[in-house]
Amino acid sequence: MSTASPPAADAKATSSIYLPEPCIVRSVQKQTDHESLYELSLESGEELGHQPGQFVQVSIMGVGECPISICSSPTREGSFGLCVRRVGEVTNYIHQLVEGDVIGVRGPLGCGFPLDELHGKDMIVVAGGLGLAPARSLIQYIVDQRSRFGSFHLFYGAREPSELLFRHDLTRWRDNPDVDFHMTVDQADEQWRGKTGVVTTLFKGLPKLSPKNTAVVIIGPPVMFKFVVIEFLARGITQDSILCSLERRMKCGVGKCGHCQANNIYVCREGPVFRYGRLKAIREALA
Ligand SMILES: Cc1cc2nc3c(=O)[nH]c(=O)nc-3n(C[C@H](O)[C@H](O)[C@H](O)COP(=O)(O)OP(=O)(O)OC[C@H]3O[C@@H](n4cnc5c(N)ncnc54)[C@H](O)[C@@H]3O)c2cc1C
Ligand code: FES
Repeated sequence: MSTASPPAADAKATSSIYLPEPCIVRSVQKQTDHESLYELSLESGEELGHQPGQFVQVSIMGVGECPISICSSPTREGSFGLCVRRVGEVTNYIHQLVEGDVIGVRGPLGCGFPLDELHGKDMIVVAGGLGLAPARSLIQYIVDQRSRFGSFHLFYGAREPSELLFRHDLTRWRDNPDVDFHMTVDQADEQWRGKTGVVTTLFKGLPKLSPKNTAVVIIGPPVMFKFVVIEFLARGITQDSILCSLERRMKCGVGKCGHCQANNIYVCREGPVFRYGRLKAIREALA
């Protein structure tokens, strides 16, 4: 089994994999004090042509580039989403963008989720913190292509209520009878009426799984990942049926510079989506 075939960047008819394409900012929605959601579309009018799980290199002239996961599904045509946390130079600049601004984007890059293999499976998606951004592209895909999947259990954990992302989506998923959605925060505030505790506390209500027909997607901080994996291995899910998305420092994003290399694996090209069995072998990636 392998993850989706590699980079659309090679397949795309751009003159160079290093050449950013102009992209128009269609809207900006503040999500939290640190994260904003950007809806973008290519100036050329073409679709980005991505798969859930892929990322782009956002290029800001005179500032630099940074990899950002595409947080919308290709089934939502006309634009694509990026949810950006402000941490440093490039992301600070991105946070100053307003509707109508033009930036550069290279991609889509990397391997996304192996959709053909996931079709027909019972799906469990577990997202923690900013991990909901890459997960959202797959979640939207499953919601839009619901008949192609079995049951769909979605779990989301944030540190505190003020850090919850995509609040409109959370309401929609909660109200969607075809999605078994649960969320929690590690620490409640006075207004919080939902569940409190780490994300693994939500698994108590899970029905007995059929390991042969279940795929689990886990995207979140390493500590969450570690405990969630234990839960699903204990429920009989195989290492190859557990998929995750790995963040490494990246520069070129296309397998040329070696910045993202871990144990001879170019995360930008072979990932960011990996099976747990493979990821376990990349010991330094989990350190
Ligand atoms: C495949 C992939 C997908 C990503 N998706 C998203 C996304 O959807 N949304 C989002 O907000 N961010 C995402 N990131 C992280 C994002 O790329 C970094 O936050 C960004 O490169 C920081 O750039 P900067 O110039 O703003 O900060 P810098 O000035 O370069 O760094 C600021 C601080 O962030 C740390 N840092 C930078 N990059 C990383 C990294 N990859 N991992 C851990 N620490 C880092 C630096 O050490 C420094 O402390 C993703 C990264 C990868 C590799
Ligand atoms: S980022 Fe350059 S090889 Fe992966």
